[in-house]
Amino acid sequence: MFEANDPNALQLTTDGQLRHFLTTEGLPRELLVEILDTADSFVDMSQQQVKKVPLLRGKTVVNLFFEASTRTLSTFELAAKRLSADVLNLNISTSSTKKGETLKDTLMTLEAMHSDMFVVRHADSGAAHFIAQHVTPHVAVINAGDGRHAHPTQAMLDMLTIRRHKGDFAPLKVAIVGDILHSRVARSQIHALRTLGVDEIRVIAPKTLLPRHIEALGVKVYTDMATGLRDVDVIMMLRLQKERMQSALLPSEAEFYKLYGLNRDKLAYAKPDAVVMHPGPINRGVEIESEVADGPRSLILDQVTNGIAVRMAVMSKAMSGQLAQRGALAEAEEQA
Ligand code: NCD
Repeated sequence: MFEANDPNALQLTTDGQLRHFLTTEGLPRELLVEILDTADSFVDMSQQQVKKVPLLRGKTVVNLFFEASTRTLSTFELAAKRLSADVLNLNISTSSTKKGETLKDTLMTLEAMHSDMFVVRHADSGAAHFIAQHVTPHVAVINAGDGRHAHPTQAMLDMLTIRRHKGDFAPLKVAIVGDILHSRVARSQIHALRTLGVDEIRVIAPKTLLPRHIEALGVKVYTDMATGLRDVDVIMMLRLQKERMQSALLPSEAEFYKLYGLNRDKLAYAKPDAVVMHPGPINRGVEIESEVADGPRSLILDQVTNGIAVRMAVMSKAMSGQLAQRGALAEAEEQA
């Protein structure tokens, strides 16, 4: 495990601009809103004939994926290309013993190729933070999911999807359902929802899939769907993270589906206009029934579309934050 404390000292410039995007935790509300506003303009742009802007022209983005991914990798790739960057995708599989030095060597190699941005996915919590600490100062690092810790662009695309469908965050009750214990998505969502000021955040899960002291994050805990979903506006389902489960935390998938799987009957507990989300990949018949996943209240495919716009927003903001920081450093050196 890598250390991941004081993220904002690392991810913000001295005047508060984004230069890395490692976590939603502790980021100021104005910055989250700025990301959403910028992403909104990119959503509009992607509906036009020409989908490209030159914001990252001449820049090299490396998608550094130590863990498999389809939608996150491909939407980051498209986002970078729509910003006119040159993009390199690297799928690096690691055994859990080969970290630390190996990672540093990989970084040095990529820096020698004059990369400007690393988009990092890694199975260990804190990996993106570690990389941001060790890259040369002009490289921006975007966390595309680190262990159970954070998945900030997923959380922001979820926030964009909610805002585009519900407008204001303030009156909303939001339920996050399923494998909270292993979910970097849930953590990042909770921090973002809190900062954006929703009325209530609930988590619904069997006791074995709830992290200890989760209430400390400002959420209400429920272990059954009937009470947990009552009157909610947004239901965010999670995937069962079987690859991250170390022991038999679940009696069986069938049992989980019976108690927590979202079907039409359980959806009826929520508000009549409640929307349903899932970060994907979905396990049909395990977390969610096809009828709901493909139904009129599902925003699952909007989430994918919005993911490109949010990733464009985050990448362009981080790049300009890096440039501003570099300018400030150069000025300071000149004056010295
Ligand atoms: C999530 C992830 O990888 O953390 N998926 C994604 O980014 N599309 C959630 C998951 O794998 O369950």
